[in-house]
Amino acid sequence: MAHITFVPVVLILTLLQYKTLFSTGLANGQPDVVDELGLHNDLQITKYDSRVILSWNNNLTEEETKKYSVKYILSYTFFNTSYERKERLQEKKKIIRLELHSGFNAKVKTQLFAKETEELIKESVWTECTYKAPPVYIQNLSCIIYNISFFNCTWHVKAEAPADIQIFFSYRQTGKYFECQQYIQNARKKNIGCHMKGIYFQPSRKIKLNISVTDLKNNSRGLSYYKALLPQKIEKLNPPINVSVSLENRSIKIHWKPPPTIGSASNNCFMYQVKITDHKIVNVAAEKYEYPLHRPAKKYTAQVRAKKEVCIRNEIWSDWSEPVIIHDGKTVDIMLLSLTLLCLLIFLGGLLICTCRRYRCLEVITMPVPHPTDNIITWLAADETHHQKQISMQMEMHSEVVLGILEENGDNIHQKGHLKDFELEDL
Ligand SMILES: *[C@@H]1O[C@H](CO)[C@@H](O)[C@H](O)[C@H]1NC(C)=O
Ligand SMILES: *[C@@H]1O[C@H](CO)[C@@H](O)[C@H](O)[C@H]1NC(C)=O
Ligand SMILES: *[C@@H]1O[C@H](CO)[C@@H](O)[C@H](O)[C@H]1NC(C)=O
Ligand SMILES: *[C@@H]1O[C@H](CO)[C@@H](O)[C@H](O)[C@H]1NC(C)=O
Ligand SMILES: *[C@@H]1O[C@H](CO)[C@@H](O)[C@H](O)[C@H]1NC(C)=O
Ligand SMILES: *[C@@H]1O[C@H](CO)[C@@H](O)[C@H](O)[C@H]1NC(C)=O
Ligand SMILES: *[C@@H]1O[C@H](CO)[C@@H](O)[C@H](O)[C@H]1NC(C)=O
Ligand SMILES: *[C@@H]1O[C@H](CO)[C@@H](O)[C@H](O)[C@H]1NC(C)=O
Ligand SMILES: *[C@@H]1O[C@H](CO)[C@@H](O)[C@H](O)[C@H]1NC(C)=O
Repeated sequence: MAHITFVPVVLILTLLQYKTLFSTGLANGQPDVVDELGLHNDLQITKYDSRVILSWNNNLTEEETKKYSVKYILSYTFFNTSYERKERLQEKKKIIRLELHSGFNAKVKTQLFAKETEELIKESVWTECTYKAPPVYIQNLSCIIYNISFFNCTWHVKAEAPADIQIFFSYRQTGKYFECQQYIQNARKKNIGCHMKGIYFQPSRKIKLNISVTDLKNNSRGLSYYKALLPQKIEKLNPPINVSVSLENRSIKIHWKPPPTIGSASNNCFMYQVKITDHKIVNVAAEKYEYPLHRPAKKYTAQVRAKKEVCIRNEIWSDWSEPVIIHDGKTVDIMLLSLTLLCLLIFLGGLLICTCRRYRCLEVITMPVPHPTDNIITWLAADETHHQKQISMQMEMHSEVVLGILEENGDNIHQKGHLKDFELEDL
C-alpha cells in the first residue's frame, strides 16, 4: 500500500530560526525610544497548504496596552528576490502566500504611540525569523489569456526535481473548479504547460492556480503550489479590428476599432501602436492616426496593435494587425504610364523587325551602297537650281509685304520701340 505523506492541514512548524537582536538602536538611529522596556516579539510560524501564517506576541503589561496604541512593523523578503515588503499592522499576524517561493526572511517590531498625538513613544528591536519551504520543483510560471476564451500556462521543471514526478494543473474561479484540458509536455514526458479553451473569465475575479507535483512511483501527492492571477492583467488582446487606410492630402490616414476584450471595453482603456512600413513605431491613444508623407514611395503597409493601459495595467501587446497595403496614387500613375510606354515601344520595335524581315529591308540596308549614276547627279543639280529660284522669289515677295506694313503703321512701330526701352530701364 502506498503511504500518503500529505502535509496536514495545519502544521505548526517550530521556528526554524529565531533570533532577537539586542544590539541597541544601531540599526534605526533612534536610541532614545529603542527597547527601553525590552518589548520582545515572540514570533511563530504556522503553515497551511500554501500559506504561511506568521504570528507574534508582545510582552506589554495591561497598563501599557491601555495607555498606548500598539502597532507592528513587519518586513519580509522572499528568497532570491531583492524586493523587501514592509507593512504597518495593528493585528498580531500576517498570512504570507508562498506561491513558488522557496522561503523568506521576516522581521517584526512593536511600536507604541501616544493615543492622542500619534507620537511614537517607544519601539522594540527587530525580531527576525527565516522560513524555508519544502523544495519547489517548478519555476518561471507564466500564464496568458488570449482570443477571449483561450488560456495558456507554462512553467519550467527545475533540474533538481526527482525523475519520477509529474505535474498537474487546475484552477478555481468564483468557487468553480477547472482541470487542465490539454497538457503540453517536454521531451521527458513531463507536463510543462497547459492549454485550455472555451473558458469564460470573470475579468475582475482572481483565478487561483493549483500546480501540484505527484510522485509517480508511489502515486503520492507531494506538494502543491498556488498562485492567484487577475484575468485582466494577463489578457493578450486580439489585434485591433477593421483597420482601414486612406491616402489624402499627401498623408496616410489610418482608422481602426478596438478588439473585443474580457474586461472593460471603454475606449479610454486602450493604448495603440502604429507601424507604417519601416518607420518608427508611434504610440496612439485615439482610434486613428495621420501620417504626413515626406517623400513619395510606391507602397506603404500599415499595422496597428493594442493593449490595455489605463483601466488596468497590462504589459502584453496584441499581435500586429494584418498589414494593410496602400499605393501612392500619383506614383502608381507615373509607373503605369512608363510601363505602358515601354510595352508600346517593345511592341513597335517587334513590329518593325517583323516587317523588315518580311520585306527584306534589312538586306537593302546592309547591301553596299552603289555609286550614284550620272543621271541622278544631273537630276539633283537641276533640282537645286530650281529650288534656289523659288527661294529668291519668296524673298522678294516677303520684303514687299514688310515694306507695306511699315508704311501703314510707322507711328506704331516707333511707339513700340519706346516702350521696349522703358521696359529695359525698369528691369
Ligand atoms: C514516495 O517516493 C518518494 C521518493 O520517490 C519518497 O520521498 C516518499 O517518501 C514516498 N512516499 C511515500 C508515502 O512512501
Ligand atoms: C518582556 O520580556 C523581556 C524578556 O523576556 C523582559 O526582559 C522584559 O522585562 C519583559 N517586559 C515586560 C514589560 O514584561
Ligand atoms: C536562494 O536563496 C536561498 C536562501 O537564501 C539560497 O540558499 C539559495 O542558494 C538561493 N538560490 C539561488 C538560485 O540563488
Ligand atoms: C527562470 O527563472 C529564473 C529565476 O527564477 C531565471 O534566473 C531564469 O533566467 C528564468 N529562465 C527563463 C528561461 O526565463
Ligand atoms: C478565436 O476564437 C474564435 C471563437 O472562439 C475561434 O473561432 C477562432 O478560431 C479563434 N482564433 C484562433 C486563432 O484560435
Ligand atoms: C497556447 O498553447 C497552444 C498549445 O501549445 C499553442 O498552440 C498556442 O500557440 C499558445 N498560444 C499562446 C498565445 O501562447
Ligand atoms: C490542488 O490540486 C491537488 C491535485 O489535484 C488537489 O489534491 C488539492 O486538493 C488542490 N488544492 C486545493 C486547495 O484545491
Ligand atoms: C467591422 O467591419 C465589419 C464588416 O465591414 C462590420 O460588420 C462591423 O460592424 C465592423 N465593426 C465595427 C466595430 O465597426
Ligand atoms: C487638404 O489640406 C488643405 C489645406 O492644407 C485643407 O484646406 C483641405 O481641407 C484638406 N483636405 C482634406 C480632404 O483633408
